[in-house]
Amino acid sequence: MNVRPAYFLYLLLSIGLTAFGSQEEGETCANILAEWTPQANRIYYDNVAVKGLEEWAVIKGLASGKDLDVIKQEISESLRRYKTILEIGAGNGRIIEWLLKKGTRPTIIAIEQSAVLAGTLREKYRNIETISIIETNILNLVPSFSCDLALWMWSGFLELKPEEKKVALAIVFSILKDKGKLVIDLPRQIQESSLSQSGDFLKVTDEYGTFFAHLISDEALKGMAKEAGFKRERSIIYKTDTNIERISFLLEK
Ligand SMILES: C[S@@+](CC[C@H](N)C(=O)[O-])C[C@H]1O[C@@H](n2cnc3c(N)ncnc32)[C@H](O)[C@@H]1O
Repeated sequence: MNVRPAYFLYLLLSIGLTAFGSQEEGETCANILAEWTPQANRIYYDNVAVKGLEEWAVIKGLASGKDLDVIKQEISESLRRYKTILEIGAGNGRIIEWLLKKGTRPTIIAIEQSAVLAGTLREKYRNIETISIIETNILNLVPSFSCDLALWMWSGFLELKPEEKKVALAIVFSILKDKGKLVIDLPRQIQESSLSQSGDFLKVTDEYGTFFAHLISDEALKGMAKEAGFKRERSIIYKTDTNIERISFLLEK
């Protein structure tokens, strides 16, 4: 399949592989992990910026907020009655826009690692007092608030190494109020690709930089959630507006 790596990345993160990649052309896990620096994906998103994310969201069939529409029953109580929503990896503000359109005005605390994206969001929402943009990696977040709902949409959870995923889940768990919910939205399957990959690690180099991801199976995610202390878990499989299958995990504290 002859496609630009960047294009393939969003195909990959939205369509997914049926297995976690072939080892044949791939680098070893150890090599990829050694190269995966804390700043790599941040720089990548600095370069993708708002325009790139907006274009990708259309191609992935998420621009209309399909991923949020499918869980709106699950999160409706949070939107109606609760006070604070945390968004992890706010990107171009797609989730914030959907929340604002619902007409409810909970406090939204949106964290974003990319200085470029965080700066754009801060400027865009500077007149809305209920929205705070925090420029940080979730791993460095010092919890100084609590929330009723945390949204981690569009594959962002894959952008952490295995051990980092556990740390991040513990951080979010500590921020959530009792019975609070965390939504993690992931690609359903990953298609075979010519990307450098080994086992469940991905590395893509293109005009934006080098991007790393660690894929996780449904069972492994459920196990990690349980370990972090989440009491209930359920998942919803759905198709985006461009017919791409995804899965949304709803974890309850
Ligand atoms: C695919 S985009 C999704 C944007 C948005 N959540 C949405 O659904 O439209 C992933 C975003 O998460 C951010 N991100 C990835 N890892 C992060 C981390 N560890 N801490 C904070 N932000 C992160 C990226 O910079 C990027 O903006």
